[in-house]
Amino acid sequence: MTKRVFSGVQPTGNIHIGNYLGALAQFVQLQDGNECIYCIVDMHAITLPKNPGELRGNILDVAALYLAVGVDPARSVVFVQSEVPGHAELAWVLMCNAYTGELSRMTQFKDKSRGNESAPAGLFVYPILMAADILLYDADIVPVGNDQKQHIELTRDIAVRVNNKYGPDTFVVPEGRFLKEGARIMSLDDPTSKMSKSAESPLSRISLLDDASVIKKAIMRATTDSDGEIRFDPDRKPGVSNLLTIHSAFTGTPIARTERAYSGRGYGAFKKDLAEIVETSLAPIRGTYEEIRYSEELIRVLKDGAERANAIAERTMKRVKDRFGLGTGRA
Ligand code: AMP
Ligand code: TRP
Repeated sequence: MTKRVFSGVQPTGNIHIGNYLGALAQFVQLQDGNECIYCIVDMHAITLPKNPGELRGNILDVAALYLAVGVDPARSVVFVQSEVPGHAELAWVLMCNAYTGELSRMTQFKDKSRGNESAPAGLFVYPILMAADILLYDADIVPVGNDQKQHIELTRDIAVRVNNKYGPDTFVVPEGRFLKEGARIMSLDDPTSKMSKSAESPLSRISLLDDASVIKKAIMRATTDSDGEIRFDPDRKPGVSNLLTIHSAFTGTPIARTERAYSGRGYGAFKKDLAEIVETSLAPIRGTYEEIRYSEELIRVLKDGAERANAIAERTMKRVKDRFGLGTGRA
């Protein structure tokens, strides 16, 4: 039986090779043999204040990147969260079946609200909106990074809780598909922390749309160590190990073979080759992105995606309303 896949990415700038290797590449692979739904979660993005003009731009950026990396709108549904009202509607129903205690334990909430006496309520219930995203589409599989594990667990807990109370097939209980440890890409200038969209230094990451000179600069300046040996040892050589991970992720070459190939040669040669590999891998993505980012085609894809998503969401909402006794049942 074909499985349904659902995932979402927030429309923020600086989508980087960590997002690509960790999440987007998986989205593309999962299209074979599954029914995939990929969302741009703009309502999640406003949990912290956003500039409206920038947000609109970022939504289209991420949509264009989805297509540029190989998400195929003929096979997968691609849409913007706020264009399907069911997300907010189901989120309310789920909020009434979740507990403040379990939400208080979410580490992402604790991190983002740290130091503030009061935080936006949206930040607190963010995981419930995420649960609604997933349960609205009866998703079987949710490909995400390890940082989302706790949110997936909460989604499963809520689904099971509602099923116990309102009928076993109210919701499909989804499974997370988490990245392998090796797929975690670290910051280039501080390889002990994760590559992130929000780090201040642009040299900490390679964004998917960076051009050759920026890519080269970031890789040539990447933090390594002084022993000059190209060897995978994340504890003692986090910088070199991160570059080996990136090399292997882009080329498919096992790390051990790359270690042998560069044995006795300096970091300079390895970095130079790696910069070229990353640049050749990203160039076609950048090319397609530029072709479609400002096209009418992109708007059409998202409109069609929202229609297809809405058709599924409306069926789920009807089922949920019937189970809960909401409305007259005749609308
Ligand atoms: P975010 O940047 O939090 O919107 O993440 C979008 C997706 O990319 C999520 O599935 C993350 O787990 C994944 N991701 C973010 N940063 C990295 C990283 N440095 N390495 C691997 N995957 C990442
Ligand atoms: N919370 C996810 C992140 O920060 C984004 C997200 C929102 C998501 N809704 C989702 C991911 C549903 C998977 C499924 O990365």
